[in-house]
Amino acid sequence: MCGIVGYLGKNRDAYPILIKGLKRLEYRGYDSAGVALINEDGDLSVYKTKGKVADLEEFCTDKDITGHIGIAHTRWATHGEPSSVNAHPHYSQSKNLAIIHNGIIENYAEIKHNLMEKGIEFQSETDTEVLVQLIDYIQTKKNLSLLMAVQVALHQVIGAYAIALLDKRHPDTIIAARKQSPLVVGIGDGEFFLGSDASPIIEYTDKVVYLDDGNIAVMKLGEELKVVNILNEKLSPEVQTVDINLGQIEKGGYPHFMLKEIFEQPACLTNCMRGRINVEHDRVTLSALIDHRSKLLNAKRIIIVACGTSWHAGLIGKQMIETFCRIPVEVEYASEFRYRNPVVGESDVVIAISQSGETADTLAAVELAKSRGAFIYGICNAIGSSIPRATDTGTYIHVGPEIGVASTKAFTGQVTVLTMFALALADAKGTVSHDEYVKTVKELAQIPAMIKDLLKVNDQIADMARTFTYARNFLYLGRGFSYPVALEGALKLKEISYIHAEGYPAAEMKHGPIALIDSDMPVVAIATHNGMYEKVRSNIQEIKARQGRVIAIVTKGDTTISKIADAVIELPDTMDCLEPLVATIPLQLLAYHIAVCKGKDVDQPRNLAKSVTVE
Ligand code: G6P
Repeated sequence: MCGIVGYLGKNRDAYPILIKGLKRLEYRGYDSAGVALINEDGDLSVYKTKGKVADLEEFCTDKDITGHIGIAHTRWATHGEPSSVNAHPHYSQSKNLAIIHNGIIENYAEIKHNLMEKGIEFQSETDTEVLVQLIDYIQTKKNLSLLMAVQVALHQVIGAYAIALLDKRHPDTIIAARKQSPLVVGIGDGEFFLGSDASPIIEYTDKVVYLDDGNIAVMKLGEELKVVNILNEKLSPEVQTVDINLGQIEKGGYPHFMLKEIFEQPACLTNCMRGRINVEHDRVTLSALIDHRSKLLNAKRIIIVACGTSWHAGLIGKQMIETFCRIPVEVEYASEFRYRNPVVGESDVVIAISQSGETADTLAAVELAKSRGAFIYGICNAIGSSIPRATDTGTYIHVGPEIGVASTKAFTGQVTVLTMFALALADAKGTVSHDEYVKTVKELAQIPAMIKDLLKVNDQIADMARTFTYARNFLYLGRGFSYPVALEGALKLKEISYIHAEGYPAAEMKHGPIALIDSDMPVVAIATHNGMYEKVRSNIQEIKARQGRVIAIVTKGDTTISKIADAVIELPDTMDCLEPLVATIPLQLLAYHIAVCKGKDVDQPRNLAKSVTVE
């Protein structure tokens, strides 16, 4: 989820335009940043540093930042830890070329190996450097133009990319290409702009071309924008007029990062499963399970440690692992685990779940378990952060930077990884039947499409939210796999609307919370067609008998509960164990819209922080 900026003109300096553009794209990643410029003497310079764009600016204070052509990048690490060396742009070995890249080159290891055999030396651990070295190698070896070398190289590449390239021998040209990662070209008066979205561009021109997958753009001074495909066929891109203000576009057109992140979930979960779920062969493959097979297969017990939303994902993981793998699982608040001299040792596997990878309590729990000899598995989002570095192995959720403080897409990403983990481990242990395994893998692969469809419920929930803003307390009920979803729904509401909310296992209601129920206390009940349907339906009757107001989350086509509930939200029908991935979505939207109706600061709620690095 990196950010890409480019500029090519005659009169303006490139550097300030690039820096400003990077700042607008910083939401896409901010672990390192860099810029490549060609000055009037034809020197191609790359300046890059670990940290944010502000750090890059400081780094560049004593550098030659002149020139009317340049490319710049803000990184969200995937391959290779966040560091100055791994930051983009990357030179090719000859230093004739510099590249920036957003995406993942999946077959980079194979290409790298081949190039190394031919004597090419690599400076970084990134997949990106592999691409620029490949282009340079092809260009030199076959004496091709840069465009043709790019086309030949992209033929060999598997994966997703948005790239931009400078060639010092052609200081009037930028070449850019896209496949599955966004890229926008801005067309000015004798100048070109480039961005991962239009935010770095709209200040200078409202004429843009959104590149399509497979497009290669050649921006050359004094010429019109040329767009070709990999076969060098000329394309006629549509020049569009953008009519959006800066504030909107930085959030991709959404009023808040949280809403954007909720809507990103279909794409994020697809990314999360990419290369791991192979539907054709009905298989889940996690490299961590291949590399550490015997350790994981022989685990006597699994302990999950996490905080906040990640802890809720852990509760779902527990049910998933116990159901499929028949290994006992305990789920601990990391903050409690670290201070209570827990019984943990060499036969245990500890799974640490953390979006940021920096939560102090989770990191401390990891260190403690490690000191007792446990094997540590991390499930994190931020690449190269402290927790993945402290663990023995792990799986990144790959949902991209999450900016809204209330976690949304990271939660569904964590649940997706836990599901894949449970399935792959169960398959290896032989604790799941082949039919059940295949059925679940196939259904999991369908979840992004289901969520995409489910998100159409947004307007309905926005209307519904207005009716419930009066409430000072909310109760969320669920059973089985839906119980942690109830907890997560309640947490979302608390975090951003400041309404007190509690999640409860539905059957426990009669042991206390039922005393609270009256007409002022809305109850969100997850009452889908799983094994607990009848029982939750009875709970709803009990609430209605006490004048409670019920928002029921039901399976599509349910006609019974809609007759008794005050409001109904329909979910697609899916397997019981996968239901958390869909049932969470309307609860995120409900919390969001209630908070918006109440005029709260949705993205930065009071007193909270995205990454809690203190106890
Ligand atoms: C903070 C955030 C929560 C998050 C929790 C754990 O409280 O506001 O959204 O769930 O930390 O964070 P982690 O990065 O470890 O998942």
